[in-house]
Formats: sequence, structure tokens, C-alpha cells
Amino acid sequence: MFNHVTNLNLNYFDKTPIGQSTTRTISDIEAINTIFSEGSVTILADLTTIVFVLIVMFMTSAKLTLVVLAVFPLLIYGSIKFKESVRKSYEKVRNHISTMNSFLQERIGGMRIVQIFNAEEREAQKFRQINRDYTAANLKAINAYAIFFPVVDIISALSLGLMVWYGAGGVLSEEVTIGTMVAFPLYITMLYRPIRMLADKFNTLQMGLIAAERVFKLLENNDMVQNTGTLAPQRLKGSVAFDKVWFSYSGDIENDVVLKGVSFDIPPGKTLAIVGSTGSGKTTIISLLGRFYEIQSGSIRIDGHDLHEYDVFALRRRIAVVLQDVFLFSGSVMENISLRDPGITEAQVIAAAKMIGAHAFIERLPGGYQYQVMERGATLSMGQRQLISFVRALVFNPDILILDEATSSIDPETESVIQFAIEKLIARRTSIIIAHRLSTIRHANNILVLDKGEVKEFGPHDALLEIEGGKYRELYEKQFLKAEAL
Ligand SMILES: Nc1ncnc2c1ncn2[C@@H]1O[C@H](COP(=O)(O)OP(=O)(O)OP(=O)(O)O)[C@@H](O)[C@H]1O
Ligand SMILES: [Mg+2]
Repeated sequence: MFNHVTNLNLNYFDKTPIGQSTTRTISDIEAINTIFSEGSVTILADLTTIVFVLIVMFMTSAKLTLVVLAVFPLLIYGSIKFKESVRKSYEKVRNHISTMNSFLQERIGGMRIVQIFNAEEREAQKFRQINRDYTAANLKAINAYAIFFPVVDIISALSLGLMVWYGAGGVLSEEVTIGTMVAFPLYITMLYRPIRMLADKFNTLQMGLIAAERVFKLLENNDMVQNTGTLAPQRLKGSVAFDKVWFSYSGDIENDVVLKGVSFDIPPGKTLAIVGSTGSGKTTIISLLGRFYEIQSGSIRIDGHDLHEYDVFALRRRIAVVLQDVFLFSGSVMENISLRDPGITEAQVIAAAKMIGAHAFIERLPGGYQYQVMERGATLSMGQRQLISFVRALVFNPDILILDEATSSIDPETESVIQFAIEKLIARRTSIIIAHRLSTIRHANNILVLDKGEVKEFGPHDALLEIEGGKYRELYEKQFLKAEAL
């Protein structure tokens, strides 16, 4: 399951709560497991008992057995009804478990916001509601049991009554022996006990089957990157070309378009800065380069080859992306940088950290490179996380470097550290920088001004400033100059 989930397209993660995926991989799998550990063997034993008791009954007296079985249609009908109702309830139960996990996962992850905005009481209330729904679904299933078991008891009593009534007549007409009359009530008890037990096992079985259905549904989700390309170059020269790229996250190019015919070229080794207002599609452009999403029309070429001609994993290996929001895993700083790639030695990590200018601060952490980063890097500052992510990108020695600059403003001292690091990162390789600060933009050979998914202006800094009433000039005067002044 985990393997499958790791290979799914990012689209899946955009649309699925994390809690739902973890429920599938943990609690649903556990429910399936109980089918085998608790359900299947006892069910087999019960079924065997039923078959053997029936054989013995038939051998003793076929007529009496048929009389006993006369009520079975009733039993089968009752069982089917019971099964349906339990199934519905358990489907709800599994749904509610998934909702509860998603809720908990999200609130615990976002506890800081919950506490900052005093939302504890409201969140607790919402949780109580989810809990109540969960209880209600379970109670429904229990109700079904509460009705079904007495019904089985009544049917079994009916069996016994019929048998006594018919058997008494048989004894009188000497068709049935007294011995049979003594043995049959015992057989009936032996027959109904496993039937009752079987119904009880429905519980485990139903839960497991419903969980299995969900797990299979996820396993059948083949929304994975179609890796049909064969090109796997050891190194890329690094020319990047977008040609009339149209893209929509939902695939609905008519109503929900994000990029509208974006075209640009970056020669090998050059730097492109992308600027534009928030939501204009800057991050989207760079997600397309590693084929994390598929475009609807147009083409993207690297070194003259369409992205689809490349083996996608070979391609991703040559492109490093530093994201806007840095993600760190729990583990040491060393592991966070190398991501446990066996091809990366500690010496390489340290060399890269020195080059970026992160070595000094990492050394000062308790334990240095072995400092244990907490989940999401919670114990490190933003700037520190950023530097670690820079080292992570540099140590992979990519041919194309993509940097989605964090929007948060930083103090001048850190700014110069980060600036230094960025210069090291982009040196001698093709780079795309989504820039929010003038100091970064100044290093770019070309600047692309994006507005609502369209390229408005493209060219070097000085040329763009010349354009009367141009977007870049406006941005420069309003945003960058002001920031510089501050
Ligand atoms: N994963 C996603 N699924 C669906 N729509 C998305 C997704 N990510 C972004 N969008 C939408 O695409 C548009 C462009 O988003 P994008 O993240 O590319 O903006 P941006 O230019 O990087 O903005 P910012 O400067 O704030 O980072 C936005 O309207 C956004 O709502
Ligand atoms: Mg962005």
C-alpha cells in the first residue's frame, strides 16, 4: 500500500486528506488482517461442524432432518437481511474512522493555529460530533445483532417444536425410534450453535471485506506518472523550452485554466527569474518541469527533447527543486540533506554546506550534523530550514536548479547569507528562480513577468525597466524599491 501511495501523482495528494491515506495503510489493513487471524479458521471449523451434523442427522432419519430444515428458508432470509444491514453500518463505521483520522491528523498538525486563534473549544466540539457519528454507526450495527440473535433463537425453537410434533407421530406409527427422538434435540443444538457463531463472525468478516474494498480501490488507482520515455542521460546540458503550454490542475482547460500558452526559452547555464503576483502560476510552471503534473497542450523540452522522451526518474534526478515551504523530516540534519541516498557521502554533504555557508550554523547545533530535526523541522528557524534545503539541492549536483523563493521577509544579515547561498546554487547551471527580492532578480539573465497565467514581459532587467507603463517597471517601483529602502 505504502509503495503504491508513494508512486501516485501529486494530484491525488492535492485532493485526498492525509488522514484518509494513513487510515488505508494502517487501520484498514489491520481490519483485513483480522479476517485471517480471527475470522477464517473459526468460520471453517463452524462450517465443517454444520456439514457433519447434517450428515449424521440425515443418516439417522432423513424425514426428521427435512422437518428440522423446513424453517431454514426463514433463517436464510433473516441472515441476508442481517448481513445487508450490518454491511451498511460498517461501511459508515469505516467512513467515520477515516474522517476522524483526517480530522485528528490535521488539527494536531495545525495545533499552533488552533491555539493562536483560541479555537480549542470549537475544535473539541467538532471532534465530539465526529465521535458521536462514529458511535451512532457502531450502535446501528449492534442493533442489528440485538435483533438477529433472538430471531435465530426463535427459529431454532421452531425447528425443535416441529421435530417433536412430527417425531411424536412417527414414534406412534413406529417410523421413528425413541433413540432418534432423544438424539435429535441434541443435533439441533449442535446445528444452531455454529450458525449463531457464524453470524457473529460476520462482524469481523464484514469489517474486513469493507476495508479490503477500500484498499483495493486505492490500489486500483493508477493515476501514476506514465513512464514510457527511455532517455536517461547522465548529465543534461540544461536548455529549457516552454512552447505554448496550456495547463489546468483539474484538466478542465475551458473553465479552470492556470497557464495560458506560456512560452519561453532558457539557454544552458543561464538564469531565468519569474516574477508575478500571487496565484499567477509561478509555482505551477516549475511543477511541470519534473512532470509532477501533465500539461493539456503545448510542449516542454529539455535539451531539445520533449519531457515525455525522458525516463521520468532519470530526469528528476538531474533537476533539483527548492520549494517555497521547506519540508524537513524527523531525523538528523545529515539524513535530511542526503535523504539517505547511498551515493552521497558525509564529506560531500559537509563540502556542500560549507559552500552554501550553512556549515557554521549546523556545527553550532547540539550534535552538529547529527542534530535530530523534529517533524517538519519545528525546532529550527525558517532561515535555517531554508539553508538546509539549499544544501539538499546542491549536494545532488543538479543540472537544472529550480528555486521557489520563500515570500517571508528576512533580516538583512540572513538575507546576505541566503543571497550568498543562492549565488552558489545557481552558478554554472541552468536555473529558474521564482523571485520575490530584487537582490535575487538582479542575478538573472532574463526575467519573465507572469500575470494570471500569461507571459506579459520577457527580457533582461534593464530592458524591462525601459518599457513605459510596463508591468515589471510597476512592480519594481512599487515593491522592490520600497523593500530596498526599508
Ligand atoms: N495543487 C493544486 N490544485 C489545484 N489548483 C492549484 C494547485 N496549486 C495551485 N493551484 C491554483 O493555481 C493557480 C496558480 O497557483 P501557483 O501556486 O502556481 O501560484 P504562484 O504564482 O506560485 O503564487 P505565489 O506567489 O503565491 O506562490 C492558483 O489560482 C491556485 O489556486
Ligand atoms: Mg508559488
